Amino acid sequence: MNRVMVLTGGGDCPGLNAVIRAIVKRASREKGWEVVGSIEAFNGILREPTELVVLDEKAVSGIHYQGGTIIQTTNKGGPFAWPVKQKDGTYTAIDRSDEMIRKIQYLGIDAVINIGGDGSQRISQALFEKGLNIIGVPKTIDNDLSATDATFGFQTAIQIATEAVDKLVTTAASHNRVQILEVMGRDAGWIALNAAVAGGAEICLIPEIPYDIEKVMERIEQRFDKGRGFVNIVIAEGARNIKGMKVSEKSGEVGYANVKLGGVGFRFEEELKEAGCEHSIRTTVLGHLQRGGVPIAYDRVLATQYGVKAFELVLAGEFGRMVSYRHPYITSVTLKEAIMKPNLVDPDTALMKTARGIGMCFGD
Ligand code: F6P
Repeated sequence: MNRVMVLTGGGDCPGLNAVIRAIVKRASREKGWEVVGSIEAFNGILREPTELVVLDEKAVSGIHYQGGTIIQTTNKGGPFAWPVKQKDGTYTAIDRSDEMIRKIQYLGIDAVINIGGDGSQRISQALFEKGLNIIGVPKTIDNDLSATDATFGFQTAIQIATEAVDKLVTTAASHNRVQILEVMGRDAGWIALNAAVAGGAEICLIPEIPYDIEKVMERIEQRFDKGRGFVNIVIAEGARNIKGMKVSEKSGEVGYANVKLGGVGFRFEEELKEAGCEHSIRTTVLGHLQRGGVPIAYDRVLATQYGVKAFELVLAGEFGRMVSYRHPYITSVTLKEAIMKPNLVDPDTALMKTARGIGMCFGD
């Protein structure tokens, strides 16, 4: 019996279940393969008692359109930074990777498929360097991985964000308001840019282009005549002004290595008031609504393609690689290449030119 362990790591993302289902379905077409899932990323294999579940066709039946992940996920801890509580109540991170690899071997697991974003694939690469047979599957709503044309979940997130812009446009117009929508996008402004173009927002503020509040004010005023008019602004959570830092807070959660973003929309509202904006302003934070719920068809299809390919890489023994979509092919790249450089919004990219072409303001 050959055994492959699947896990989902980092923030959840619409389409994770479709990947899991595709891996299991593809594996069931081969003789002598069993798929197990590690609960909550690597935590399942690291914990005592071990938390693994057998994933057979029955377990994954009908999950392709469900949001979230049936094997749960986490963006805390992990094999290289396992939090251990000290006597004084503080936590120290310890490296349990060697012990984990030994446990994986002891349990007769021949290969691991890690479905996750850049942080998760960095862990995959480090484990591969230690000799683990591992394959990565790219996942992120932020679309910030450069070694693939697309990550599943991104289109669903854009759809959700666009629907929010659509709704805010009508209320902004009814009240002659400046309406701010904060969307996700830690380092990459792809969700903001796409939702702003699709929803027809006038201003879009992204992490890649620090904004000048005076330029933003100018654009707002062009939209008003004697107090009448409205403006829709989409701002990515990682956006910052030309003088400033990103808006973040301490998470307080044990093992959470990321900076917790959020709140930039409200700070931006204050900035506008300080800059003399006298129009009525309202701010909406879309938050985790962008990550939950049913994946749209595009993401289900991509996720299914990724799942099948991931298992085929396992069958071929091509480890240390991440599944990738390079139109029109579902192919793979080395994990090393996959984590080399993030996919940020290039000011010269076609969509930026389109957005500027329709008069969208980026505050620069
Ligand atoms: O990486 C995807 C992402 O959606 C980021 O845009 C966001 O900053 C982060 O996840 C938030 O994740 P969580 O709230 O789960 O820590």
